[in-house]
Amino acid sequence: MNDLTPAAALAAIAVGGLGLLWLLRRIRYKQGLESLRDKVVWITGASSGVGESCAHGFYKAGVKLILSSRRSSELERVRNDLCALKLTTPTHVPRILPLDLADVKSLEKKSKEAISFHGNIDILINNGGISFRGTAVDTTLDVDRRLMDVNYFGAVALTKGVLPCMLSNGSGHIVAVSSVQGKMAIPFRTAYTASKHALQAFFDSLRAELANRDIHVTIVSPSYIKTNLSLNAVNPDGSKYGIMDSTIQNGMSTEYVANKILQAVAHKEIDVVLGPITHKAAIYLRTLVPGIFAKVMEARAKKGMGSEN
Ligand SMILES: NC(=O)c1ccc[n+]([C@@H]2O[C@H](COP(=O)([O-])OP(=O)(O)OC[C@H]3O[C@@H](n4cnc5c(N)ncnc54)[C@H](OP(=O)(O)O)[C@@H]3O)[C@@H](O)[C@H]2O)c1
Ligand SMILES: *[C@@H]1O[C@H](CO)[C@@H](O)[C@H](O)[C@H]1NC(C)=O
Ligand SMILES: *[C@@H]1O[C@H](CO)[C@@H](O)[C@H](O)[C@H]1NC(C)=O
Repeated sequence: MNDLTPAAALAAIAVGGLGLLWLLRRIRYKQGLESLRDKVVWITGASSGVGESCAHGFYKAGVKLILSSRRSSELERVRNDLCALKLTTPTHVPRILPLDLADVKSLEKKSKEAISFHGNIDILINNGGISFRGTAVDTTLDVDRRLMDVNYFGAVALTKGVLPCMLSNGSGHIVAVSSVQGKMAIPFRTAYTASKHALQAFFDSLRAELANRDIHVTIVSPSYIKTNLSLNAVNPDGSKYGIMDSTIQNGMSTEYVANKILQAVAHKEIDVVLGPITHKAAIYLRTLVPGIFAKVMEARAKKGMGSEN
């Protein structure tokens, strides 16, 4: 021990400290996941992309899943995939509840059905959504309304559907999968970015109201994720855009995003922004120097709609 120089001793302490921090993080993460076991978790948009990966993550954590989207055949495929997993930990067979977020009036009844499966909803993940590509001037008001219905009013209706149950249970957690475009608007996305900004505001406001009720609200704002979102996006006339944007093609994996959502729920995080540091910085730019942000967006718009590809 006499040979140990002060520098080597310090390095040893630093390495030990970092190792301990890493270990504590692992333990906290495991405990967080353990806290989810047997909870009732309702996921919309569970038939593909982020929602499907969330279904996998929550299923493995031993929750009672309710999977929703329009296509029941795809939801069944997801359920079959889950049930075919060979896991050593106990799991629950997921329930399927097809619904159309655009049919906002139907969602109160759908919430009742979801609650009836297990008598309660502990966690609602508002993830289902569609995107849009086009100029505002060409876009029919019907398309603006459709984006608002699916991305915003759908989530609001389901949230109102489960809140009374969460309030009487005395606990709950609601997640809104928004987008970095819920915090800053880019050109050729009016309908989409407006619907995501609305989500951010609604759930920020709601979070404060529920602060003393042990009901938590998490807003997740990811940058580009490798999904079918742009393939399923709509044009100004409501037809399918149908193009795999290169930004999306090169985006984050759905597994990465789903894992971050699981962690955010387990640790009751408030606001999670996922993506490259440049996109996070742009959100600050938008707030601190809106004039500069506007110039950057103007330059982007000048390049035309396909410029990001
Ligand atoms: N991909 C990205 O770059 C990105 C970035 C930021 C945020 N997001 C957000 O992530 C969420 C999930 O999207 P994704 O990227 O995973 O795209 P996706 O693969 O196209 O998944 C969208 C999901 O929403 C469901 N859905 C669409 N319209 C619906 C409706 N009217 N009623 C019920 N369900 C509907 C779809 O299922 P059915 O077709 O079976 O209905 C599907 O399960 C969306 O809210 C999106 O805005 C995505
Ligand atoms: C995109 O859609 C295709 C065809 O429906 C499907 O096979 C694929 O799994 C989807 N991709 C994702 C990431 O959900
Ligand atoms: C809340 O719901 C959970 C199951 O989801 C249940 O175990 C618990 O007893 C409920 N609490 C109340 C007060 O109803």
